[in-house]
Amino acid sequence: MRIENQRIQEALPLLGVELRRGVSLAEMTSLGIGGTTDLLLIRRHEAIPELLMLLDAQKVPHKFLGGGSNLLVMDGELPFVALQLVKGEPEIALEGNIATVDAAADLGRTVTYCAKHNLGGMGGLIGVPGTVGGALRMNAGAYGTQIGSYVREVKVYRAAERKIEILRGEQISFEYRHTSFAPDDMMLAVKLELPSKPYPEILQGIRICNEKRRSSQPLGQKSAGCIFKNPPGGSAGRMIDELGLKGFSHGDARVSERHANFFVNTGRASAADMMALIADVRERVQQAYGVTLENEVVVWNG
Ligand code: EPU
Repeated sequence: MRIENQRIQEALPLLGVELRRGVSLAEMTSLGIGGTTDLLLIRRHEAIPELLMLLDAQKVPHKFLGGGSNLLVMDGELPFVALQLVKGEPEIALEGNIATVDAAADLGRTVTYCAKHNLGGMGGLIGVPGTVGGALRMNAGAYGTQIGSYVREVKVYRAAERKIEILRGEQISFEYRHTSFAPDDMMLAVKLELPSKPYPEILQGIRICNEKRRSSQPLGQKSAGCIFKNPPGGSAGRMIDELGLKGFSHGDARVSERHANFFVNTGRASAADMMALIADVRERVQQAYGVTLENEVVVWNG
């Protein structure tokens, strides 16, 4: 979608928002899939309420883009614009055991930075791609660690109230790959309370997780991580594997040979290919196990 509206175009520079025309979201997502749209880069959190008021008033649909690492975007000219935060300065500020982190900061870099300052807890998240805001929104987790466990406070734009609020950790519920934030809330910054631990000890844990990940996940390939959530008490990857579906494909969208819950783009997969593969695998698992797998990947299909 292209922003043609004069009022919006005039207001953007005043709000410190940069307009990038016709950006390919395939280039901004780890799956390498997605059509084109205008991208609005936001530099000041304080500009968000006014920006969104303006977009709504002019009936311009919009979606928030984080790191694009857990996202499947439809093909072609997209019927919405994308909004993205530009990293604030400093990205991470430490005070005692509290790390104040910008939502646009890279999650892996944040884990490493905190570790170097003898703050542990989040080592398991080291190889999870994406931003801190994205991890927070869906309570990303790996190797027994979930980011939600360390959240002391979140600065968030609450779309329903049209304002920026500070929520305390206790006001937010963090469950398996799910939080109580509304889908259109926008994470802005977070205060994490992390346990003190000597750097070498944290590093040892990080190395073990990295090794496990390297041996069990297709890290060099284009993917969005796990496609499905694990059903209660089960493993989506194991079920798909047991059905002999590794290597199964629709066009260039293929079930990874290394981990069956990772679907990779082996070349020029379209969103339609990936959606067809997801639907097909879900159907086969449903037939065989009577379990309906729920998407973990976020789908932008309109
Ligand atoms: N398994 C198979 N075949 C496969 C894949 C897995 O038999 O192709 C078996 C494994 O042998 C193991 C079990 O399934 O016995 C679970 O596999 P794994 O340890 O790889 O964990 P997972 O449940 O598949 C979860 C998260 C990952 C996270 C890892 C490590 C979900 C949906 N996935 O995977 O997160 O990295 O644990 O903690 O919760 C993600 O969220 O995108 C993601 C990749």
